Amino acid sequence: MDKRKLKKAVGELMLRNRRISGRHQYTVPSTKTYPYQWLWDSCFHAIILSHINYEDAKKELLSLVSKQFPNGLIPHMIYWRKHTESDFPVIEWGKEDTSTITQPPMIAYAVWKIYQQDQDKDFLRNIYPNLNLYYRYLINERDPRNNHLIGIINPDESGEDNSPRFDIPLGLPPVHSLDVNFQKRLELVSEHERCDFEVGKCMRNFFWVKDVPFNAIMVKNLNCLSEIAQVLNFIDDAKYFADQATLISDAMRKLMFEDGLYWSTYDRDYKKVKVKTWAIFMPLFAQICTKSEAQELVQKFLLDETRFGGKFLVPTVSRDEPSFDPDNPWRGIAALLSTNLSWRGPIWIAVNWFIYQGLQNYNFKKEAKMILESSLSLLESAGFRESYNAKTGEGLGAKDFTWGGLILDMDLT
Ligand code: GLC
Repeated sequence: MDKRKLKKAVGELMLRNRRISGRHQYTVPSTKTYPYQWLWDSCFHAIILSHINYEDAKKELLSLVSKQFPNGLIPHMIYWRKHTESDFPVIEWGKEDTSTITQPPMIAYAVWKIYQQDQDKDFLRNIYPNLNLYYRYLINERDPRNNHLIGIINPDESGEDNSPRFDIPLGLPPVHSLDVNFQKRLELVSEHERCDFEVGKCMRNFFWVKDVPFNAIMVKNLNCLSEIAQVLNFIDDAKYFADQATLISDAMRKLMFEDGLYWSTYDRDYKKVKVKTWAIFMPLFAQICTKSEAQELVQKFLLDETRFGGKFLVPTVSRDEPSFDPDNPWRGIAALLSTNLSWRGPIWIAVNWFIYQGLQNYNFKKEAKMILESSLSLLESAGFRESYNAKTGEGLGAKDFTWGGLILDMDLT
């Protein structure tokens, strides 16, 4: 598919999935399976839309921040209106119109991306108070032990609902069904409801993971936020956010790094979860590894066909992990929901986008091109799907899924 045709196909998909609610405009990740607004999806949408229409990109983010809680949390789901006809089960998160948890904080990155293209300071001014409040909430509320690592209270906050990084913290073996996994997460929601979703309490008593992608995304986004504050002449804020980014990256080095890789940690004593998922590449996105560490990541992990390499790129879990499941066939609840919902092996285009950006940061041009080409061929052969089988390239889960549009943000020339 040539560049022009691809852009047209993405534009049509984004339009099909666009929804209006009063003065708000947003995009649903998939019309049938995911009929609501999700946090990191909306950031991906804004990045995609920044290649199509800046104003639509801004509207997407303004809708997202419009439901911010007084304490600063931006919820990971906004229902706008509940769909009874949808296949998506509505988990009761204890609130009528939104969830009560968050998702990887990609908003400042998306805002900065749009600004770099159209230099609209009014937009920055307009959205800055929401960003300021949100990132301060994460810094102040999500780090009760003051170690400068941001914690999540539910696997769903990582955006990778059933990733094997959460098996040990959830008390699950490396091989288990999606139904069992879903049940565990539902139990967590009930426990959180019992403690009124009060983060400090939930973290201490139930589930408290300091996840590598979430923290890497924090570092990158705090640096973007610092740039935004600089443009608006908020000099103290600019310094504060840049300093926080450094504190988190230093803490990641101190508490997560071992044997050349960054590992997510859990519990009060920051035990490392040594399961190799695509998260090991996220330090490239945050630019927190040295050139030689980056070189090792690429050679020993990305290109090795027994790990993340191979014909179809990039599996979410290393091919040599016991939890690796290339397609997580449509059994049980997955079949019921007509979604794949699997972060235990299948390829997701947003993951490829993160890795692509990380490789570009370190000037691995050839390897970045390889990821782009693999993503393109998956899209061409299987269409815009939720994920792809890591062994056969077959499309899995939701159809008309928007994340494939991120291909526009990889250099197609
Ligand atoms: C699934 C994904 C999550 C995403 C949501 C909407 O739950 O795991 O990352 O935000 O679908 O697309």
